[in-house]
Amino acid sequence: MNANHWTREVFLEHPEMFLPLLEDRLSRAREQVDGLVKLFERYGVEHGSMVLDLACGIGRHSIELALRGYNIIGVDISLDYLGIAERESDRKGVSDHCRFVGGDMRSIGSFFEGQLFSSSLSLFTSLGYYDDETDLSILRQINHLSLDGGLLIVHIMCKKHAESLDGKRKLRKNNGILRIEDSIYDEKTSRLKSRWTFLKEKGKGYKKIGVLHFENRLYTYKELSEMIKLAGWDHLESFSDLKLNPFEGGSKYVVLLSRKAD
Ligand SMILES: C[S@@+](CC[C@H](N)C(=O)[O-])C[C@H]1O[C@@H](n2cnc3c(N)ncnc32)[C@H](O)[C@@H]1O
Repeated sequence: MNANHWTREVFLEHPEMFLPLLEDRLSRAREQVDGLVKLFERYGVEHGSMVLDLACGIGRHSIELALRGYNIIGVDISLDYLGIAERESDRKGVSDHCRFVGGDMRSIGSFFEGQLFSSSLSLFTSLGYYDDETDLSILRQINHLSLDGGLLIVHIMCKKHAESLDGKRKLRKNNGILRIEDSIYDEKTSRLKSRWTFLKEKGKGYKKIGVLHFENRLYTYKELSEMIKLAGWDHLESFSDLKLNPFEGGSKYVVLLSRKAD
């Protein structure tokens, strides 16, 4: 990986700083997996099928899916996150149904010899980290790892929402740590550039403890659905979230459900 790429700083050098965001969302995993399971049942992904959770983080969806009877392979670049996922899957008694593999999604096609998946997931804006050709290549590689009729579920922030964050500052507090999120949307590159400054309570004030930079490529519905099609997938349905609410113009997120084209 390029030594200066932002993902290195966020996920490899300081995974502990992004971790609270993933932990915060652990409580949403159960209802999100309810939505995923509804889609699996609607499109014939049977219990016991192999599911790929690409960029699985701490395994919040992988583990919940394993509890519902699916077999999961979670792939992530952060060995710290995978360690948490492994310990949690052990604790919940589903380690026989989850395997966590360290690696870079850009070469996902070379990871599994002879292994084909019934469904592949890319959840919580885990695409758009590199350039458009790389996203297309990742989607193509997953296509080649899919069984005939296999599903792809991509859940990602919408470009329109990213535009609305331009020039905005958000403050969030968690366990005595204040996070200041400053964002700029670059129209020329369709990238949301964010700087997160972390401050820790000290006496009556705060002390700066770190800064993370993000640079996410966001897509419109049309751009993303065209790219998914180009990668060999047929569109099935779209939603605004994993509770399967309908997608509308102002939705912050989009969930695109596709099936491997014949
Ligand atoms: C926004 S988090 C989403 C995690 C998980 N899907 C979830 O919903 O909790 C993005 C994840 O992508 C992983 N990641 C970043 N770059 C990656 C790469 N090149 N290959 C594999 N995983 C990567 C990070 O380590 C992180 O866990």
